[in-house]
Amino acid sequence: MVKIAVYDVREDEKAKLKQLEAQLGVELHLTTEGFRPDTVEFAKGCSGASFLGQNDIGEEVLIKCKELGVMHLSTRTVGFNHVDVKLAKELGFRVSNAGYPPYGVAEFTLMLMLMVLRSYKPALWRQQVNDYSLAGLQGRELRNMTVGVIGTGKIGSAVVEMLHGFRCRILANSAVENDVVRQYAEYVDLETIYKECDIISIHVPLTEESRHMINHDTIAKMKDGVILINTARGELMDIHALTEGIESRKIGALAMDVFENEHAIYHQDLKNDIIKNREMAYLRQFPNVVLTQHIAFYTNANVESMVQCGIESLVAFANGETYACEL
Ligand code: COI
Repeated sequence: MVKIAVYDVREDEKAKLKQLEAQLGVELHLTTEGFRPDTVEFAKGCSGASFLGQNDIGEEVLIKCKELGVMHLSTRTVGFNHVDVKLAKELGFRVSNAGYPPYGVAEFTLMLMLMVLRSYKPALWRQQVNDYSLAGLQGRELRNMTVGVIGTGKIGSAVVEMLHGFRCRILANSAVENDVVRQYAEYVDLETIYKECDIISIHVPLTEESRHMINHDTIAKMKDGVILINTARGELMDIHALTEGIESRKIGALAMDVFENEHAIYHQDLKNDIIKNREMAYLRQFPNVVLTQHIAFYTNANVESMVQCGIESLVAFANGETYACEL
């Protein structure tokens, strides 16, 4: 029987895991622990390990896995910047990621755009103290905006399709272009995105090339008052450049579901802790900055799909088969 170690298990994943265990006839060993050098031993006797995105899967974990014969790895996340896939493959591992539908993240992206356009954060603050005044809350309409979408993979393309319903002008930039996006948006170079867009939303994977692609220089090229949206990875944007952009009002609003160095913070209950991320604490106070705790992915449909991809791919690998999400 195929045995799989499942790390980082949340309560809301358990029902689907149980269902798959019965359906696929596999043995799942569940733990809430992360997949780290000190927890690899838990996977002893298993052919594969499934995990989320909080820990870096680098040389130390890989070597320990290899020693234990745990040669199949699956991250239940779409992003795989936390896994050294190149080294893993060199060492003979088979690796997969999750291929959940893009709509949950795309809808959340649209929600963030609308929240900042309609000053929802200060409106909510006011309502909670019985301040029902209008001053300062006048919004703007998406239909009058030029929106730039950087990266038109599955999520970026879904964002473009949804934006089309709002009748705004859409510009797109992507390493790989596609015909669905071409129906609704014009592909342009990044310089044009920076120069012409009122809102810029980023949907590229985090790589060495894309790290800090939004920085002092690129922000300087943008329109005054530009709105920046990030539901991809915090490290795509240089946090110091963002902070200065907000302080100088070059950036009119910022909404981010992700944050540089969020790993020890997001998805944890830290009410009684000392959180060491000064940039986050500082940026969070501004009325035109909306920060959410990496929840854009978190829908019932996505969780089902993440768990399914994670387990099915490891079963396929154990049976010597191929799987669509193999990296
Ligand atoms: C992903 O799937 O890549 C995500 O961003 C969500 C994950 C961190 C749980």
